[in-house]
Formats: sequence, structure tokens, C-alpha cells
Amino acid sequence: MNALLDVRGLTVELPTERGWIRPVNDVTFTLAPGETLGIVGESGSGKTMLVLALMGLTPPGARRTGEAWLYPRSSNGNRSGTDNSVQRSTRRTDLTVANSEQIRAIRGREIAMIFQEPMTALNPVMRVGAQIEEAITVHEARVSAAEAHRLAVAALERASVPEPALRARQYPHQLSGGLRQRAMIAMALAAGPRILIADEPTTALDVTVQKQILELLVNLQRDLGLAMIFITHDLGVVAQVAARVAVMYAGRIVEEGPVQEILRDPRHPYTVGLLRAAPRLERGKVTPIPGTVPSLNALPPGCAFAPRCEFRRTECDERVPDLRRVNAEHTARCVLVAAEGALST
Ligand SMILES: Nc1ncnc2c1ncn2[C@@H]1O[C@H](COP(=O)(O)OP(=O)(O)O)[C@@H](O)[C@H]1O
Ligand code: SF4
Ligand SMILES: [Mg+2]
Repeated sequence: MNALLDVRGLTVELPTERGWIRPVNDVTFTLAPGETLGIVGESGSGKTMLVLALMGLTPPGARRTGEAWLYPRSSNGNRSGTDNSVQRSTRRTDLTVANSEQIRAIRGREIAMIFQEPMTALNPVMRVGAQIEEAITVHEARVSAAEAHRLAVAALERASVPEPALRARQYPHQLSGGLRQRAMIAMALAAGPRILIADEPTTALDVTVQKQILELLVNLQRDLGLAMIFITHDLGVVAQVAARVAVMYAGRIVEEGPVQEILRDPRHPYTVGLLRAAPRLERGKVTPIPGTVPSLNALPPGCAFAPRCEFRRTECDERVPDLRRVNAEHTARCVLVAAEGALST
């Protein structure tokens, strides 16, 4: 199987005053080398918690079950002489049970993450260049200071930061919002990860800068052969960056398939609602989805979308619908999809 990341039945449970909740519920997907998977869903659907679980960053007290296999670099893809983790280069790792040392070796070097707010990643009192140098030397202790500096400036240049040597000497607050985002991308990619997780990286930016950052990410993804998980609440953004999309609702994937097919022929009423609510895609009047995301403490017994669904019928409330196959590449968790296509999950 040609997977870089193989996530199977990943579930995250969190303790709350009203009992355990499952912000991530039985999530299964694979990511192939060089592929971009979009993850889309309204705020609160579990997108961030899903990727935090992959990075070993769930809140204290959280329980994780399921598997998340990170596959090794192919042998000719190894950076011989600088790779100090022989085990990592030969065996797959289950990220859900990896210890803190393994996770430290993976973060930045195998999987890197960028966020909506660059200041989550950047240290306000440290020069931008020094932060990128640190992101490199934490994995490659033998790199000299001069070499680390050269690599940091090159990373800024690769992220299309103008005057990279000058910017490297500046502090994050001296950079515009768009440049800070580029600096965060440079830092994320500095240690040569294979997977980039982008969690709503353009949500806070104005439309022009957003477009530039999306273009940059698409170019970097292609040039570096990166695999990318791109999270957004906006299906219109997904269409610009990803070939495949997974739609999340109340912790579960409710539809998954090729982006263009899902935009043209969505099969889950929630995806239909997201499309109608996307200003970039909807030519007619933009209509928000009625109702709100259900509380994870009080999910309906059947389909979690049922209270908001205009197609609801009796069987929707009996049990959580299985993911059903629309075709070889497209699935949806809805009783409206012909039952004979049900997956054996
Ligand atoms: N530390 C936490 N404790 C309890 N619930 C949390 C915590 N963090 C997130 N949640 C809940 O988990 C759900 C998913 O959140 P999140 O992954 O941030 O969604 P998204 O990124 O899709 O907006 C939400 O209902 C949120 O309230
Ligand atoms: S399973 Fe039923 S309630 Fe859920 S989305 Fe499909 S039709 Fe609507
Ligand atoms: Mg989020």
C-alpha cells in the first residue's frame, strides 16, 4: 500500500463536567505521498483535535484509541549521515502510542504544522532567523551555526519572503500578517518534513493575502513533493488546494472523495449545506445551514445531522449510519446512499 499516513478508527475522548465527549469519533483515512487531503467542517466539528491527536498534542486527560500509522521514508529518500533515528527509517510508527521521544523526532522532521495564528508558532522575543535555525538544529545537531543560518535564510526565500536575510534579523512583530504567515511556513518546512498539516492557515487573512498564501502552499507542496492535510471551514478554499476532501461533522467523517466530484455531486445533506453556505462556490443566494452543531454531550442516537436535515426519516434516528460507498473513491455516511454500497466498517 502506498500510504504515508494510515489513520484507522482514531477516536479522541475528553473528560468534561457532563461526562466523556468524543470530539474525534472513529476517523479513518489515508494520505499518500505528495497528496493533499482537505478536511472541512464547521467550527467545533473536531478538525483541530484530529490533527492534534496525530501530533501527540491532545489536552491533559484525553484518551486516544485507534491507530495512526506513519510509514517510513523509502530507503533512497533517507538523508544518510544526518538521520539519527535508524528505527524511524525502517519501521512504521503508530502515532497514537508513540512516546514523547519518538514524537519529538517526528514533529518538524516528519510532520510539521502551521496554524491560523502565526504567533502560536513564532516566539515574539526571538529573531525570525534564529527560530528557524532552532527548528533545523533540534533535528540536526551537527549542523554548524553558519550552515544553520544559511539554511534558515534559504527557507525564508523558499517561502517567498522578500529580502530574506534582512527579515531573518527581525522580530515577528516587525513583519506584516502575510509575512509572518510566510515565516511560519518557512519554519515548518525548514527541517524537511514529508507531511504538512495546515490548520486554517488563511482564515484570519484578507482575501488578497489569503490567495497568495494558498498559491505559496500549493507551489511548495508540488515542488517539495509534500503530502498535506489542509483544514478549513470553507469548501471553496479546499477546491483550490486539495484533490480529495473529507467532510467532518460532530467528530466523524460524513463524506469523503475527490473534491471536484463532491462539489458537483455531494451525497451527504451536510455537504450540500456547506456548499450552499460557501460564498465562493454558490452562484445564487448564500444560505447558511439552519440550526447549530450539536453539543457533543447530547448527540442524537442516530445520524448526528438529523436535527438539521430536511431529508430526515425514521431510520436516520435508529443508529449512526455507516459510511456507504457512492463509487470506488467516494463515500457518504447517509441512508440516502443506496444501502447495497455500504462499506464493511
Ligand atoms: N480542551 C478541551 N476540553 C473539552 N472540549 C474541547 C477541548 N478542546 C476542544 N474541545 C471540543 O472539541 C470539539 C472539537 O473542537 P475542535 O477540534 O477545535 O473543532 P474545529 O477545529 O473543527 O473547530 C468542540 O466541541 C470543542 O468544544
Ligand atoms: S442519514 Fe438521514 S438525517 Fe442523516 S443526513 Fe442522511 S437523510 Fe439526513
Ligand atoms: Mg479548529
